Amino acid sequence: MARKYNFSAGPCTLPLSVLEQLRDTMVEHENAGLSLIEASHRSKEYEAVHDQTIELLRELLSVPQSHQVLLLGGGATLQFAMVPMNFLPAGSSCDLIHSGSWAGKALSDAEKIGTVRLAYDGKEFNYMTLPDADQLSLDSSAAYLHLTSNETIGGVQFKDFPDSGSVPIVADMSSDIMSRPFSFEKFGLIYAGAQKNLGPAGVTVVIIREDMLERCPETLPAYLSYKTHAKTNSLYNTPPVFSINAMRLVLEWVKAEGGLAEFDNRSRLKSSILYDTIEGSNGYYRNPVDQRFRSTMNVVFRLPSEELEKQFISEATAAGFDGLKGHRSVGGCRASIYNAMPMEGVEALADFMRDFSTKNG
Ligand SMILES: Cc1ncc(COP(=O)(O)O)c(C=O)c1O
Repeated sequence: MARKYNFSAGPCTLPLSVLEQLRDTMVEHENAGLSLIEASHRSKEYEAVHDQTIELLRELLSVPQSHQVLLLGGGATLQFAMVPMNFLPAGSSCDLIHSGSWAGKALSDAEKIGTVRLAYDGKEFNYMTLPDADQLSLDSSAAYLHLTSNETIGGVQFKDFPDSGSVPIVADMSSDIMSRPFSFEKFGLIYAGAQKNLGPAGVTVVIIREDMLERCPETLPAYLSYKTHAKTNSLYNTPPVFSINAMRLVLEWVKAEGGLAEFDNRSRLKSSILYDTIEGSNGYYRNPVDQRFRSTMNVVFRLPSEELEKQFISEATAAGFDGLKGHRSVGGCRASIYNAMPMEGVEALADFMRDFSTKNG
């Protein structure tokens, strides 16, 4: 098979070695006489996979003892609702940094549950920048401050996280988790759908500070309460065993490749190759994002016309570069360069872009 360079925003490219391991262990898991997806989730075979996955997440992300790792279903989207259901009781309000499409979805669900104050709204800048500390209006009595660490559609990424004092930050890290180190100190909870840097869709990682669990109301249905999952080591109900096992293999791969520091370097390098190509194109390619907040994961760019964008995407696809179409809500082009995208893929795309602009300039 001629494997394409897959620049999709998620689901996205995964390490080939992980796919091969999944294939090779599909029918029988470690001499168990059955496959993992046929084994009970209470079996010792699955329990080992489950615990190893959590341990690897703890180790690679340097999760402190104060925080618990949960593996949930429902995608990051369910977290848009679970966060306010657990932490936004009547009479309180939360702050939210509105940075683009995904923050907008978190806002919309939170508003259905309780009161949300916008600590910042990037609307007037078309969500192409993020706030400096003095542009943030923070409420010191907020239940929490929600932010989106990387806007997958807009290509905008926080480089540092705001100082919210004693207000815990809740962060949607779906599209840049495991791409750079960060300290958990400010975070009451982070969440991430797996299908970018962690594995296939189907499992969502939630990392929650222990004291936040005390806030979860007893009135919530069981699955919707973080407490339920924390008390049962994320085994309250049947977990997505295939996705969790695949995530375990991706995490082992991340560790073997050098861990977070290594992927931080690679992400900076890979994204700078594409941003330099855009910058060096004499305005042929344009990236609309404030330079300070350009994403190292999702590089968005426009061409001189929509017609040329269509032609670019069609010729790129024919040349083996998949998934370069920008999100349907914004158009343009987007190269998502998550951890499993090799340097060669990015270099090949940069060559293709230079070639295309020379031929069609
Ligand atoms: C930043 C961000 N948040 C949330 C989501 C929604 O995730 P899910 O599809 O897992 O619900 C996505 C999906 O791409 C995303 O990029």
